[in-house]
Order: sequence, then structure tokens, then C-alpha cells
Amino acid sequence: MPVQDCPAVPLELRVPTEDDFADFLRPVFGAFGEPDPSAESLDDERLVWEPERSLGVVDGDEWVGAAGAFSFDLTVPGGGTMAMAGVTMVGVAATHRRQGLLRRMMERQLDDIVDRGEALAGLTASETSIYGRYGYGWATGYAAVELETARSAFRVPPQAPGRLRMVQAAEAAGPLAEAYERCRRQRAGTLSRSDRYWEQKLRDRERRRNGASALYVVLHEGADGRPDGYATYRVKSAWNDVGSASTVIVTDLVAADHDVYAVLWRYLLDIDLVTKVVGQVRPVDEPLRWRLVEPRRLRTTGLGDYLWVRVLDVPTALGARRYAVPDGLVLEVVDEFRPASGGRFRLDGGPDGAECTPTDATPDLTLGAEELGCIYLGGVALRDLAAAGRIEECTPGAVARADALFTTTPAPFNATMF
Ligand SMILES: CC(C)(COP(=O)(O)OP(=O)(O)OC[C@H]1O[C@@H](n2cnc3c(N)ncnc32)[C@H](O)[C@@H]1OP(=O)(O)O)[C@@H](O)C(=O)NCCC(=O)NCCS
Repeated sequence: MPVQDCPAVPLELRVPTEDDFADFLRPVFGAFGEPDPSAESLDDERLVWEPERSLGVVDGDEWVGAAGAFSFDLTVPGGGTMAMAGVTMVGVAATHRRQGLLRRMMERQLDDIVDRGEALAGLTASETSIYGRYGYGWATGYAAVELETARSAFRVPPQAPGRLRMVQAAEAAGPLAEAYERCRRQRAGTLSRSDRYWEQKLRDRERRRNGASALYVVLHEGADGRPDGYATYRVKSAWNDVGSASTVIVTDLVAADHDVYAVLWRYLLDIDLVTKVVGQVRPVDEPLRWRLVEPRRLRTTGLGDYLWVRVLDVPTALGARRYAVPDGLVLEVVDEFRPASGGRFRLDGGPDGAECTPTDATPDLTLGAEELGCIYLGGVALRDLAAAGRIEECTPGAVARADALFTTTPAPFNATMF
């Protein structure tokens, strides 16, 4: 019998107070291999925790379920931004799993997000099997790439006015935040990063290094002296019988323009004693490939999902983004988990603006909330979802028209793990 149906067990959904912090997070730490979280781990999580956005399940006096949310701005196609609840800190104690606790927290959390006036929620998923049922869809992908430095010649040497400068991680928050802020509207899917995010990231804890070095930060400053790009990376040192075989692991790289982007990659590929550069989380359309004399040498070693998006207010969310071509369609959104967020909507959009309103007109397409999350940022093609039986085309040609509308270049991308 599900625990919540058992009268002997008083299970309660509760918003934690500051004092509950360690107990509230125990199911999450427990699920991720830290049954007795260290003071350092707790301190790092507390830094970014938003207690009023959190909610947990208490069994007697024990916290057995947790779900939190961070406040983000999400870049949408066209370069505008939307408030997005970034769902995080989700876990259920192993003693209470598969008894409906996550479902209860997800229901309440989505209501809370709507009450705050946010049209979107998003998350990064530990498993792709969990969140579709709650209306979240795989919205951005990432590629893991690697390149042997010896085969990394560029077709044309990159040039950008300005200079590269090494910065100590402890002093990097200001310039990195400034460079990131200049870049974050370039790609749909990119999330804002708070001062606390940077502080937490740049603490650069040993437990986050996976045996590689401390974090290196290289900053690019433009001719005006302002930061306009950076790369953060680690070095994994290795030696063999002929010499060094070290790897540079790029953890983040952004640039305000294509030339600065290329200068940063060139810098990484030219570091002495390094034979391979790995980009752990790069866009699926990583631009570096097309700079290379040997583009095949940039090997894609992994492809996967990153940001999952959940649309809660269809007119607001669809009206806020821009579309590749001018067109209009009627969408029937079937939202099984949260019917109040579904309905039938007429979307008229184009490169300069969009309007989305409820309608009674005959639908051109019928899709679920999860599928709407997949297509929202333009990162998943409707034709692929339709081919998988996940979108119904009611008007012949509507899938192709919707793809022409929703498609986004460059590919949507987010590299902010939360
Ligand atoms: C994922 C997790 C929070 C699920 O909690 P839970 O309370 O067991 O989930 P529920 O009982 O509410 O299950 C809800 C539904 O999701 C399904 N489900 C839950 N977790 C699942 C998983 N990991 N894989 C596949 N299905 C899952 C259940 O079968 C159930 O399906 P139904 O609605 O069709 O019956 C829990 O397993 C956990 O803590 N996992 C480890 C930590 C983690 O991965 N957290 C998520 C971070 S993004």
C-alpha cells in the first residue's frame, strides 16, 4: 500500500526552514552517495539554496523526500529571456521510494511555480525515464568532444584584438560573470548565473576534480580591456615511455564572437605537454569543427540530454520566443499531469514577434506537454517526434510547417548544471 494511503504513517508535505536545511537535504545526499554529508558539501549547497522555493516530505520527524528550485532566466529563441524555475535537489529516501512521494512533490511544486507567475520550469535529469510524465521534455542536447592536439591545425589562424590572461580561480568571479553576461543571449537554452553560482563553482572543491588538477581560468579581454570570453579547464597529467600524454579537460568556454571563440580553442590546443583536449559539455553543433583542417579529427565521444523544459503557461511561453519564418498554427496541447496548463492555442509567430491565444479552431497538431517541452527551444524536430508516434498531424503538412517555425540556429544549448 502506498505510504500516503496508510493512516498509521503521518506523511506531510512541508516547506523547510533554514534550520531544517541538513535534514531536508539528507534524502538527496543519500541518493547521490553521501549518507553523512560533510560540512563542506552542506556549506556549498546552502550557498545556493532557496529555502522558500523548497518542499519536502516528512515522515514523523524524518525528512524522506525533497525538491527545490532555483530562480533562473532562460534565453529563448530570438534572444529574449524568460523566468524559469530550475528544479533541483530532488530525492526520495530509499526506504520510501516508489510510493508516490515524487509525484506529490511534483504536483505541488508545479502549482507553486505557476503561483509565482513563472511560465516555465526546467531541470537536468539524473535519469531520462523520470520527468516526462510530469510534462518535462528533453529540450537541449550536448556533445562531448575530443581532439588530438597534433591533428588540430586550423584552416586559418584565428585573430581577435585583445589579449589572453590567466586568472586565479578565487579572483575570477567578476570577470567570468561579466564575460558570461555578454554571451548568454547568443544561444537559446542558456541560463543566467547568479553571483552565488559563480562563488560555488569557483570554490573548486577537490571532490569535484575527478583526479584532475585544480581549475585553470583563461580570460580573453577585448581591445577595450573588457572580458569578452573565457575558458575554464583542468589538466590530467600523464606520462608514457615517449613523454607527456596529458589531457586538457575543458569545463566551460564562452566567447562574445567567433574569433574570440577560435582564439580560446587555439590557446587550449597549443598548451605544451598536452596531447589531447576534451570538451565535456559542448553544443551539438560545436563550431570548432569547421575551423579544422581535419574536421573528422574532432571526435564526438558522447551525445545526450541536458536541459529539460516544462511549459506551464502556453500563451506566455510561446508568445515570448521568436520563430524562424512567419506562419500560424493551431496546437492542441494535451497535459495529462496538469490539465490546467493544456488546451488549444493559436500561435502566430515570426522573426519579429509572436502571439499565442486560446482558441476553439480545429487543431493542426496534437501533442503532449512533454513534446511541447522538447520543441520549445527548437532543439528537437517535430518530424522526429511525429515519426516516433509522439505528435499527431491533424492537417497535412503541419509538422513540416511547425518545424520551419520552431527550428533554432545555433542549436539551443545550456552548460549550467544545477
Ligand atoms: C527519482 C526519485 C526521486 C523518484 O521518487 P519516488 O518517490 O520513488 O517516485 P514516485 O513513487 O512518485 O514515482 C512516480 C512515477 O515515476 C516512476 N519513477 C520514479 N523514479 C523512476 C526512475 N528512477 N526510473 C523510472 N521510473 C521512475 C515510478 O515508477 C512512478 O511511475 P507511475 O507514475 O507511472 O506509477 C527517487 O527514485 C530518487 O530519489 N532517486 C535517486 C535520486 C534522483 O535520481 N533524483 C532525481 C534527481 S534529477
